[in-house]
Amino acid sequence: MSYQLEIRNLHVSIGDKEILKGINLTVPRGELHAVMGPNGNGKSTLAKVIVGDPEYTVTEGDILVDGQSILELEPDERARLGVFLAFQYPVEIPGVSIANFLRLAVSARKGEEIGFMEFYNKLLAALKTLEWDEEIVSRYLNEGFSGGEKKRNEILQMLMLEPNYIIMDETDSGLDVDALKIVANGVNSLRGPNMGGLIITHYQRLLNYIVPDKVHIIVDGVVVQSGGPELAVRLDTEGYDWVKELALV
Ligand SMILES: Nc1ncnc2c1ncn2[C@@H]1O[C@H](COP(=O)(O)OP(=O)(O)OP(=O)(O)O)[C@@H](O)[C@H]1O
Ligand SMILES: [Mg+2]
Repeated sequence: MSYQLEIRNLHVSIGDKEILKGINLTVPRGELHAVMGPNGNGKSTLAKVIVGDPEYTVTEGDILVDGQSILELEPDERARLGVFLAFQYPVEIPGVSIANFLRLAVSARKGEEIGFMEFYNKLLAALKTLEWDEEIVSRYLNEGFSGGEKKRNEILQMLMLEPNYIIMDETDSGLDVDALKIVANGVNSLRGPNMGGLIITHYQRLLNYIVPDKVHIIVDGVVVQSGGPELAVRLDTEGYDWVKELALV
């Protein structure tokens, strides 16, 4: 069995508009790949389709996790396979404390209820990595959180759930430089042979802290260029004009 996230010739529509037009991408566990590309070209769509957002229709192609097609699986079943999405715009869930949410989520991922002490010790370790005060976990999920706190909370979830595949959609947007480093530390602490993922970002800055194994550029719903971290540096200095031209040929 191949331990990888594989996107095969993925076509995705919303209504009668085709957004993804044949994406091919393979991310083995152990590797983090950055996904870049101009606004409105399908990056968030790709992230949402991987986790099973019902708003989008897959018209062709497949998504495989460790060799198994996940297209027919519900979002919670995908999560149980270890697929985790950190959103571009995290939602608020009033009335649910972070601690309760995390305990349920970790138990669901394990397939059995996690014991209190085990949970608590894991939580304290994760909070320490994120340089976050324990007081935060008694607050309601994202309610009244600043943008930066929401993002940090997502990394907290990630640390607790230990996903096999992370999908980060612009987790860096709106973070101050200290928070960016803390978030990157959190992600880097999870890196290892068991975890792979996609990091969607507009800025090379994040990739200085989370150095990707590969960089892919999506324009108009297809991957037009793949390469190493140097590709992100080139985008930073030259912009997207040259890749948009690649999309036309
Ligand atoms: N729910 C939706 N309803 C209608 N159109 C949508 C929907 N979701 C995405 N789209 C359209 O699909 C295209 C791709 O959007 P997507 O959010 O994937 O872009 P993106 O590459 O993530 O952009 P950004 O860099 O600005 O985040 C856009 O034209 C967008 O308007
Ligand atoms: Mg987006």
